[in-house]
Formats: sequence, structure tokens, C-alpha cells
Amino acid sequence: MFKLKIYGEVSMNIPISKPYFDDEDKKGILEPLESGWVVQGPKVNAFEKKIVDFTKSKFAIATSNCTTALHLGLVALGIQRGDKVIVPSFTYVASANAIEYIGATPIFCDIDLKTFNIDIQQLIKIIEEQKDIKAIMPINLFGLCTDMIKIMEIAKKYNLKIIEDSACGFDSWIKDKHSGTFGDCGCFSFHPRKAITTGEGGMLITDREEIALRVKMLRDHGAGKSDLQRHNDKNGFLLPNFDVLGYNYRMTDLQGALGNSQMDKAQDIMQKRRSIAKRYDSALSGIEQLILPSAPKGYIHGYQSYVCIFGGKESLKSHNIQIIDSISEKRNLFMRELSNKGIATRQGSHAVHTLGYYKNKYHIAEKDYLQSYKADRLSVSLPLYPQMTEMELEYVIKTIKEIL
Ligand SMILES: Cc1ncc(COP(=O)(O)O)c(C=O)c1O
Repeated sequence: MFKLKIYGEVSMNIPISKPYFDDEDKKGILEPLESGWVVQGPKVNAFEKKIVDFTKSKFAIATSNCTTALHLGLVALGIQRGDKVIVPSFTYVASANAIEYIGATPIFCDIDLKTFNIDIQQLIKIIEEQKDIKAIMPINLFGLCTDMIKIMEIAKKYNLKIIEDSACGFDSWIKDKHSGTFGDCGCFSFHPRKAITTGEGGMLITDREEIALRVKMLRDHGAGKSDLQRHNDKNGFLLPNFDVLGYNYRMTDLQGALGNSQMDKAQDIMQKRRSIAKRYDSALSGIEQLILPSAPKGYIHGYQSYVCIFGGKESLKSHNIQIIDSISEKRNLFMRELSNKGIATRQGSHAVHTLGYYKNKYHIAEKDYLQSYKADRLSVSLPLYPQMTEMELEYVIKTIKEIL
């Protein structure tokens, strides 16, 4: 864990993030224990409705986590063994793994370092060169939407399916359209590192009824009816049909209960997250070695994470792996110094094409997706959680300024 440091009279021990729970969460989670309905039932139903209302999507289907939502989304879109799906090479490994689960092939695409999201020009190039791409999985990383307007134009032109990985995209918007609502479907994570959490948990949203019905079936072993539907049915003593190969990707009602109480305070949580991000923006903007996150005009950043690029302009310019690696060593030193002062940071995410499984299976070199490599080696995520105190925030800002 983190070393304790003294700031004035107070020990500083600042984590990278902290889930925000209150008495309502504690009360809510007890209700399924009292009713005895603990697996995908009324609480999950209510949580799904809240997500529908919040995102203004037509359907929301809860799953055990975002990875399983992505898996089911791909299956529901008809992606099959051998199909090619484009995915950014800078994301969390789960995005590409979901594609691998069905025997499809992830085709990596580099990112734009300014947004950490897919590089649209390279995306078009790949589609034109390969000609047999079936789908794109854009990632709305760290709470910033990909340019989904362009992506949807591309999807239309080349007849491609779109599954948005919005694991980090809760309360992220382009104008008044929520992340995950642009493509055929979008998937969210409620892991504790996300803005709202159910412990583990995921959700797929879609406006297309056939996708919603299929995902509902697939998450529940392929059952033609959910347990809740069966329970309310006069022939509920009979098991339903199982016409497709399904999975057990259900969310529990304990998680559903937590999802409901988290949604009830989501506006407050998000307002606090955004005000901390704003403080970082104004306090750190003069530091040349840090490039701060930003959002294009009309985009509303959700700040699932506040991720900077270490090394300033030199990092943006550099195309040389040795130079990137030497800046990376300085970044690691910076993170270690912060850690020694009781402040946790993390690299933003990883370049999936450099991870053993993908590198070895697809024979990819680090330099093949250079911006992703840079994002991996040079990104620094700063502490951000709604209950962060003024003193903690000041301490982080002051310590960063002292070190840099
Ligand atoms: C971009 C991205 N996709 C997918 C996932 C997987 O989410 P989960 O842990 O809910 O399966 C994550 C989790 O951090 C993520 O960041």
C-alpha cells in the first residue's frame, strides 16, 4: 500500500481512486438479503431503467461486467469466428479479449494522443486496405467520447457494425448524446475504478430491440424467459426454452441494489469529479512537462480518470522508441517520487499490442502503433475521487509542482 506522509499535522495517503459509498448504498444492499431475491431480479430491473433514463437509450441490459457485455454485444451483432474487428491498440486488454472470445480477430488501430481515442485517418486506411472488416469497437477512453459522428459516417459508408466500449464513458457526451448511444450498442463498466460502481458489473445499451432481446437471452444461459418473468407467469413451475447457446453473465440483485443507490447520487458524484478535474486544469496548466487532458468543443468529459502525458512537447514530437523510453524512465521516477510522498498515480492504460498474448499471437512490434506505445509509456493518471478533500487536492498539486 502507500506510505504515510506528514502534511502539516496530517498523514497523507492519497489513493488513485476510491468508490463513493454512503448510508443509502448500505441500506440498499441489505434489501435483497431481506427479500431473499439476490440474483438478477427487481433491483437489476430498476437499475436498467435508471440507465435507460440517464443515457436516453431505448434498452439497457445488465451483465456481470463490461467484458461480458462486450462479448454478448459482439455475438448479438453476428460477429463470428474469423471475422475482423477493429479496436484501438491503447485500451484495457478486456476490449480485445472480448473479440478473441468468439474467435474473431482484433485488428489494432493507433490512437490520437490528444484524445487517447482511435486515430480516424488510420482507421479509414485500415478499412480501405483490408476490405473485409466486419465491425469497429471504438473506445470512449477515460470518459471522453471518440468522434462518434465520424465513426458513424464511416460505418454507414463501409457497412460496418459498431460496438462502443464505453467502460469508462458514464456521463460522457457529445452535445446531448450520451456515449454508447451512437453505435449499434454500447457497453459500460461498474468496476470500482469507474465513476459509479456495483463492485463488478456491466451494462449494454442499444436502441435496437432485436439486439436487446438477444443479449437478454444470452446473458441467462440462452433462456427464453428470465427467472423474474417466469416467477410472475402462471406456468412458472416449468422451465423455459433454451434455443441458443447462452452464458451465465447475470448481474446479482445485490449489485443491482448498489447500482440504484449509486445512480440516485450520480449527478452529485459527477459534479464533484468534474470540479476536481477543473482544479487540476487550472493549477497544472503552466507545467510544461505535463500535457493535460482536454475535450474537443461540444464534448462533455466524464473524467473517469484524469490522465496526462508526461514529457511535454518532446513527447508529442518524438517518433523514436529510445527517446520515448528515456522519457518513460523520467515519468516512472516522477510517479515513484509521488508515491514516496503518499500520492498514488497509475499509467493511464496499456498498449494491448505490446502485451505477451497479442504480441506473440499476431507478431506485432512495439513501434507498429507508436502513439499507443507512447500513451502506455508516458501517461500518468492523477488521483480523482468525489470525496477527495481540499487538503488532499492541494497537497497533490503542490507536490507535483515541487517535483516538476
Ligand atoms: C476500456 C475498457 N474496456 C473494458 C473494460 C472491462 O471492464 P470490466 O472490468 O467491467 O469487465 C475496462 C475496465 O477497466 C476498460 O477500461
